[in-house]
Amino acid sequence: MKKRSIKSLPCMAMHEQGLDGLQLAIIAAMSRNGVIGESGGVPWHLPADLKRFRRLTMGHHLVMGRRTFESIGKELDGRTTVVLSRNRDLNVLTAAGVGGVGGVGGREGKEGREGKEGREGKEGRQDLSGRCNRGDSGCVLWAGSLDEALEIAKKRGERKVFVAGGSQVYKKALVEADRLYLTVIDAELSGDAFFPQWDRHEWVLVGCEHHGVDEENPLPFDFCEYERR
Ligand SMILES: NC(=O)c1ccc[n+]([C@@H]2O[C@H](COP(=O)([O-])OP(=O)(O)OC[C@H]3O[C@@H](n4cnc5c(N)ncnc54)[C@H](OP(=O)(O)O)[C@@H]3O)[C@@H](O)[C@H]2O)c1
Repeated sequence: MKKRSIKSLPCMAMHEQGLDGLQLAIIAAMSRNGVIGESGGVPWHLPADLKRFRRLTMGHHLVMGRRTFESIGKELDGRTTVVLSRNRDLNVLTAAGVGGVGGVGGREGKEGREGKEGREGKEGRQDLSGRCNRGDSGCVLWAGSLDEALEIAKKRGERKVFVAGGSQVYKKALVEADRLYLTVIDAELSGDAFFPQWDRHEWVLVGCEHHGVDEENPLPFDFCEYERR
């Protein structure tokens, strides 16, 4: 495996934290041709990428679209998940089967722990907020917009929010994000969900780390980190 340390590459001065001190990071895995998903799931299985996702996001707020949450199908331990939906009456948790039904597999969907017994699963969103205590190992909140999700995270004392997809939410967040954590898979794959177009001139590559094929990871990929100019 060829490895280049992110720290060893030239790095711009730390980007200023926007959004009143809240840093907004996008985390995504995509093929060379920009595919991020297929049929509601992710068309690859790369444990090394899942581990990196878990390591980077642990302890933080994750914002994701309702469809991505449904594909994961459960809370992610150690993180607060804020699910975006315009449907204020939707009980996203029941829809996603957090009470026990397995998801079809988002990035951590297949690998992570089993869905916790659904104390939240049968109840509406109003009830959820009150139960999402900071010390919880993993819990889920609902927000009607990205701004609302960021406001929730800020109020809960977060300093770095991760936007974890899918396409629609990435598109919205790209305008405001100050950091991108991209896993770029070195293959052209077919799919139906894509990472949005982004202007590379607005971003500085902080570093990339190459990961070759091994017994667990059937495709080569690069972990790349960008910060906004
Ligand atoms: N490779 C990766 O890193 C990665 C990461 C995440 C997801 N994915 C894949 O991406 C696909 C899903 O992406 P998607 O674009 O179809 O769906 P999505 O972004 O996950 O979810 C879309 C839904 O989120 C809600 N939503 C989106 N933007 C919103 C906004 N600004 N305000 C309020 N609500 C908003 C809406 O829910 P309502 O319809 O309920 O209003 C919308 O229908 C799946 O295949 C998934 O596996 C891949």
